[in-house]
Amino acid sequence: MNKQILTETIEQLFANGKGLLAMDESTATANKRFAAAGIPQTEEMRRRYREMIITTPGLSESIGGAILFDETIRQQTATGIPFIQVLQDAGIIPGIKVDQGTKPLAGFPGEKITEGLDGLRERLAEYKTLGARFAKWRAVITIDKNIPTEACIAANMQQLALYAALCQEADLVPMVEPEVLMTGDHTIGRCYDVTEKCLKQLFDQLYLFNVDIEAIILKPNMVIAGEAASQQNTVDEVAAATVNCLRASVPVAVPAIAFLSGGQTPEMAAAHLLSMHKNFRNQLPWILSFSFARAIQQPALDTWKGQEANVAAAQRLLYERAKLDAAAVSS
Ligand code: 13P
Repeated sequence: MNKQILTETIEQLFANGKGLLAMDESTATANKRFAAAGIPQTEEMRRRYREMIITTPGLSESIGGAILFDETIRQQTATGIPFIQVLQDAGIIPGIKVDQGTKPLAGFPGEKITEGLDGLRERLAEYKTLGARFAKWRAVITIDKNIPTEACIAANMQQLALYAALCQEADLVPMVEPEVLMTGDHTIGRCYDVTEKCLKQLFDQLYLFNVDIEAIILKPNMVIAGEAASQQNTVDEVAAATVNCLRASVPVAVPAIAFLSGGQTPEMAAAHLLSMHKNFRNQLPWILSFSFARAIQQPALDTWKGQEANVAAAQRLLYERAKLDAAAVSS
């Protein structure tokens, strides 16, 4: 591992209060979002959508890195410029999702395990050749009456550590994502407990497998009540719970934390991030930023509707969302 390469990548990704744009939806997820917006679910429409995103004027003012999907990292603009080059020319560092999605965890109804470790060393080498400088793996933890189980947490956190070790070996920054889902009616307290437990086990495993935690990015959920919970909390309560939970479980040696949005509206995700910075400015030992997909893309997707005539309007919305998120980090 060349630590200098990794730490320089992390510095560049978050320079001047910038954050990350997740645009690494799998084909199935992208198609689901297209279907909901009435957009044809074809490879060409996905290509056009991603071209619209990466050619957004001024995007690099607030976005330091973009996470791509296997299909996307190989695509080109209509005029034949590789997406990777468009991003690099704009000063946006390309990253890549390297997990291969989740499957049911055998023997544990309602729980998931992420696939993708087989052949990962070779895939990382190829992605690096293509221009990726960081790589994301998402583990999914579901909260319900009797879950998550110890087994599900242990299996997922160990996989995150194995993947992170392979990334560092390849001089790619691991972006480690243990996502505790917002699905369900659980309280914010339950989300806090599960998130803390997952993060503590994650760092145990990262140490066990010799991952250098000074050269990772953590991509966690915010600590928030389930979306179907009868009691929702104030913006400041969510911010406080999130910062307290991270302070209790994330070592100060970790350089950067970049949240997922997890189904929050763009406005709420930005408001929570802003509150964390305003109210806890002096208590944040790490860079605390964002790596949103839906909370940046959704308004643009709804406006684009798959039509060329809407590209400029959609790009303006994308630019504005990213700008507001970066402003929250810099506040
Ligand atoms: P959301 O911000 O839409 O949760 O997506 C982030 C992400 O990368 C999920 O893996």
